[in-house]
Amino acid sequence: MTLPGDDAVSTALMYTVPKLDDYSQESLEKAFAELRAAFDSEAQAPLDEAGGKTFRDRWLGRKSGILTQVNEQWLKAAPAEAKREVGRRMNELKQSVADFVAQRESIPKNLGIKFDSLELLTGDQVATSLGRQIEEAKELRRQREKLDLTLPGIRRPLGAEHPVLRTMNEIVAVFRAMGYSVGEGPEIETDYYNFEALNFPPNHPARDSQDTLFVAGQEQKPLRERLLLRTHTSPVQIRTMEKQPPPVRIVIPGKVYRHDTPDASHSPLFHQVEGLAVDAGITFSDLKGTLDHAMKALFGSSVKTRFFPSFFPFTEPSADVAVTCFKCNGKGCRLCKMSGWIELLGSGMVDPAVFGFVKANGYDPAKISGFAFGMGVDRIAMMKYEIDDISLLFQGDVRFLEQFA
Ligand code: PHE
Repeated sequence: MTLPGDDAVSTALMYTVPKLDDYSQESLEKAFAELRAAFDSEAQAPLDEAGGKTFRDRWLGRKSGILTQVNEQWLKAAPAEAKREVGRRMNELKQSVADFVAQRESIPKNLGIKFDSLELLTGDQVATSLGRQIEEAKELRRQREKLDLTLPGIRRPLGAEHPVLRTMNEIVAVFRAMGYSVGEGPEIETDYYNFEALNFPPNHPARDSQDTLFVAGQEQKPLRERLLLRTHTSPVQIRTMEKQPPPVRIVIPGKVYRHDTPDASHSPLFHQVEGLAVDAGITFSDLKGTLDHAMKALFGSSVKTRFFPSFFPFTEPSADVAVTCFKCNGKGCRLCKMSGWIELLGSGMVDPAVFGFVKANGYDPAKISGFAFGMGVDRIAMMKYEIDDISLLFQGDVRFLEQFA
């Protein structure tokens, strides 16, 4: 049997690397074209195992393979300005030869074709056989997997924002939109920041209202350095003013702790968002306008706000803020205990005594003024989502949390 390419072997093997004197573009073009043609025609030839090895040695042999000869005779002898061009063309060819050899040698290994059966096959015939075997392998795999595309997929459970965090983020977003920045502070605080600098003098009865959890073993330290779990986010007012001179507009979300016996509305851990605005000429109207806008943004534009006198050592005057019940619109229902109003936050104008603690940083009560407020996030979340027991927020029960996904 004769196959196409038979006589190509004999003719092509006649190729020997000629000497190169002329390194002009045309000459290089011609020399490499001849080299390429020789390779192409030899590559077309049928092969058996021995033939494959002969072919590889003839072209890639380290000592006297054709490519080594090209390297020695053409590249090394090339004048400096032609080296790049010769090198490029040589690498190009080298790549094709290497690819070709690698591909041809991988056929029998990968697909279990015996060299014997490849004997006298041309490249095209190998390719056809290769294609058929690949199809068979694919079919086998399809059979094995028996993939049923009509089955429902595997759904990964997606997490959801916790209702407290969601509410906190909503509150923060309302103030961000008004140009407030967002800050944070430590949950383990010193007596100084939690009380003293907020105008709670040592032994002042107002401290009692804060049901403080103290860190044990602090008695040897001076009072102001003793550690406790912060009872509110207000200490971050002082920390903020120590860090930056006025003007300040900041909200501070975070966890706070109080020594409370847990029940449906009390938890020793809860959340607050603190607010502080300090600038020249800030008045109580700014406080009212800001908080009225914030409540409308949070609960709907139809809610009304009400400010009534209160007391905090660090604000003067102080006001508690209530909003019309967003469930009954102020008519009176179970949620608002028939009052029509829901009390949501404490607020007031920053007491000049507080500025006294940060006076050195530009807080001169004669020149600037400000307001502060603090709201309980958990209570707001409970009202919004009609949750009747605060402990549900901290038990991590998936059945409860899933309802907010
Ligand atoms: N820190 C106060 C509390 O926890 C709330 C508050 C903050 C009041 C800021 C006035 C100004 O009760």
